[in-house]
Amino acid sequence: MAEDSAVRLHNIGLSYPDGTRVLENLQVEARPGEMIAVLGPSGCGKSTLLRLVAGLLSPTEGTMRREAPEDRLGFVFQDPNLLPWANVADNIALPLRLRGVAKATRREVAAHWARRVGLGRDLHLRPHQLSGGMRMRVSLARAFTVDPELILFDEPFAALDTFTRNHFNEELLRLKAQAHWTAFFVTHSVSEAVFLADRLLILSGKPARLLDVVENPLPAPRNHTTRESLVFQQRVGDITAMVEKTLPHDEPAA
Ligand SMILES: Nc1ncnc2c1ncn2[C@@H]1O[C@H](COP(=O)(O)OP(=O)(O)OP(=O)(O)O)[C@@H](O)[C@H]1O
Ligand SMILES: [Mg+2]
Repeated sequence: MAEDSAVRLHNIGLSYPDGTRVLENLQVEARPGEMIAVLGPSGCGKSTLLRLVAGLLSPTEGTMRREAPEDRLGFVFQDPNLLPWANVADNIALPLRLRGVAKATRREVAAHWARRVGLGRDLHLRPHQLSGGMRMRVSLARAFTVDPELILFDEPFAALDTFTRNHFNEELLRLKAQAHWTAFFVTHSVSEAVFLADRLLILSGKPARLLDVVENPLPAPRNHTTRESLVFQQRVGDITAMVEKTLPHDEPAA
């Protein structure tokens, strides 16, 4: 592995035990502190790719190397996976509880991250009392409690309205500037990918092959005015055209 890579996928192929072929000949290297957006049609294998990087799945072919140890890995799953009987604070602090962190510290960390995701007043609520977007925010906060070196985001903001999503995108870049984690960020939104990512992986349909890796030259700092800029809109247009080519002809682009 190149010394400065945080994750390296080498010639990865993956078939599920039932024979479903999902990933084929993937070569990806993430640099430390880099945010990589992953775009590709529904069902192509994006969530599978994240599970593989997390070590929850093993490749059928090739090798995956990851710098971040398991206990510094944050995973925001596509499905928020909350414990139904536990309140917001306890759901956020779950990874700390599993590691035996003392209750007072768990409370403090949960309250901090709940505030960062706009749930500071909702610590006592249980999952059935939350909206879909609020559940996703709990899941987001939970990923940060482990002081992550690497975070895997699986469409974390898909359930949010555009304004809230934009706000969270900006907040995410602020967090990243403070903490320097590496991230893979799966999304179906090209504008979200262009706003957030340093590079974009464009995957083909099933089995997912790497169609393109695009450097994102959008200048920093990126903030709410960035989306109005011509360079941003041109970038979104270019990437949308590339992603459209990955879709079956009878399926319109999102
Ligand atoms: N445990 C499994 N066993 C067999 N096939 C599976 C399993 N999990 C996922 N698949 C299949 O692998 C393919 C890729 O699934 P995956 O969830 O990675 O797609 P995705 O790109 O994340 O899709 P979406 O954008 O809809 O979330 C799908 O065809 C899915 O049916
Ligand atoms: Mg998925």
